[in-house]
Amino acid sequence: MDKELPKKVIKHIKYFAKKYKKEVTLISLLLVLTSIPMIIRPLILRKIIDKGLMRSGNIQVLVIGVSLFIFLSILVSLFNYFKGVLIGILDNKIVLEMETKLYKKFQYADPKIYEKWDRGYIKSRIENDISSFASLFVSSIVSIIMDILILLVAITIIFILNWKLALISIILYPIYIVILKKYNNKLKRVKKEYQEIHAKTDSQIFNQIELLKDYKKLSRLSHGVLKYFSQTKKLVKKNIELIKVENANINWLKLLSGLSPSIMFLFGGILVLKGHLTLGTLMAFNSYLGFIYTPTSKLLMYNIQVQKALVAWKRIKYILNLPEEKSEGVKIDNIKKIIVKNLTYDYNDNENKLFKGLNYTFRKNKIYGIYGPSGIGKTTLSEILIGLKKDYEGNIMINETNLTKINIIKYRSNIRILDQEPLLFKDSILNNIKIGQKRAKKEKVVKISKQLGIHSFIKEFNKGYETVLSEKGSSISIGQKQRIAMARALISKPDLLILDEPFSNVDDKNMNKILNLLNKIKNKIIIIISHNKNILKICDKIYEIN
Ligand SMILES: Nc1ncnc2c1ncn2[C@@H]1O[C@H](COP(=O)(O)OP(=O)(O)O)[C@@H](O)[C@H]1O
Ligand SMILES: [Mg+2]
Repeated sequence: MDKELPKKVIKHIKYFAKKYKKEVTLISLLLVLTSIPMIIRPLILRKIIDKGLMRSGNIQVLVIGVSLFIFLSILVSLFNYFKGVLIGILDNKIVLEMETKLYKKFQYADPKIYEKWDRGYIKSRIENDISSFASLFVSSIVSIIMDILILLVAITIIFILNWKLALISIILYPIYIVILKKYNNKLKRVKKEYQEIHAKTDSQIFNQIELLKDYKKLSRLSHGVLKYFSQTKKLVKKNIELIKVENANINWLKLLSGLSPSIMFLFGGILVLKGHLTLGTLMAFNSYLGFIYTPTSKLLMYNIQVQKALVAWKRIKYILNLPEEKSEGVKIDNIKKIIVKNLTYDYNDNENKLFKGLNYTFRKNKIYGIYGPSGIGKTTLSEILIGLKKDYEGNIMINETNLTKINIIKYRSNIRILDQEPLLFKDSILNNIKIGQKRAKKEKVVKISKQLGIHSFIKEFNKGYETVLSEKGSSISIGQKQRIAMARALISKPDLLILDEPFSNVDDKNMNKILNLLNKIKNKIIIIISHNKNILKICDKIYEIN
């Protein structure tokens, strides 16, 4: 067991108690309110038996006792209900807070992490880690406190009732704990293995689902199904092992915790027969033993849960501590000139370095072409130019300042990049064009759309510019998407516009429209990347990578 665990748990409780004062106070109050009737009930049972049923039998005591018993039971249920709801609310608040934090973090994080972690992995970390932390932590902590409370009170009460019988009753307790711990360790190991397979499978399955359409295109449906099946099969196998261990655990413990009451009944029974103990006390004893053994086994289980929650927390913290792109450095208001000096780039797993010393200059009011075969590094170059890839060799000067010294967030806000697969959001066409430019007027959007030749097709939709595109814009053609993305890029009047093979799906007529438009809006640096020399004919200068 982690020796630091209690310390860590207390640190977390303090943090959340401070943050969610109202909820935590109410939950604590309800916790005490639920525990008191639970603890009192066996004592009432004792009274009912001894004073209501035995020789001196008294129907009045019986009726009052039973009524009180029922009343307390109703109270317990009621308090339990409110406690459950409050825990749920707190749980959700924590999840929401953390999800927002992590999401923000991923937005502002250094772009390097997107190379390391794919989408499935990021998604599963945001979702699984947070939910396992929030739900495990909140509900475990509440139950732990309640169980400790009940356990301590129950032990105290049985010693007050009859200390000799109390000693005999808990004689098996140490053995119980030792065995419990042994089983729990095994359970913990299998659970951990299961978690690992689960996390791996999760990200693979997510990826598999993303590929559904591609398998259809390849008409290799069975391949997709088989892959999916083999991944899930591993998970199921481990899960069955886990279920076996869990069940063995539960049943062994049941046997053990059943032995103690038996011993207690034997000795207690003799005491009752000899007249040293009332039957009511014996029954109350039995109830209190339940309050001792069940919480103990639960407490040792929570140990696993809390540790798991803390592992999730550690992973969340790791993400929260990832380096961010800070808004610091020299602010460039107007990108006038970009000079690439002696640029070389090396994808670590790639044996061949890219570029091997490029020297390019880009100036305002000019259109540049970058030409070269597929795979030569054109897209990589554009990512370096906008500061997404930082570990290049050589120097890149923006106006007179080194790219490494400038405020990258401000710099990027003056750049628009357009690639083969324009990213559209599940939102109206208008908002897709305006994104990040809330104040842009609709007339401006319409004007640019007309110039790009998309106005007529947008008008054909019933709702025109208000038409909501489906996920990733799948309801329109790639060529149309590319031109919507082009409208978006132009409306913000960037200083640097990079077009990375953007016209692969635009027909000649519309392409000429776009090229004409580009010729007119020259007050910026325009870089067109293409493996098609025909498109590059409007360029003032063409750089060829080979
Ligand atoms: N994330 C990556 N990790 C390793 N190699 C990569 C990665 N991205 C691209 N490459 C490799 O770098 C080379 C250049 O890719 P890219 O810049 O996309 O070329 P282009 O845009 O000219 O087609 C290719 O050989 C490609 O396989
Ligand atoms: Mg490319």
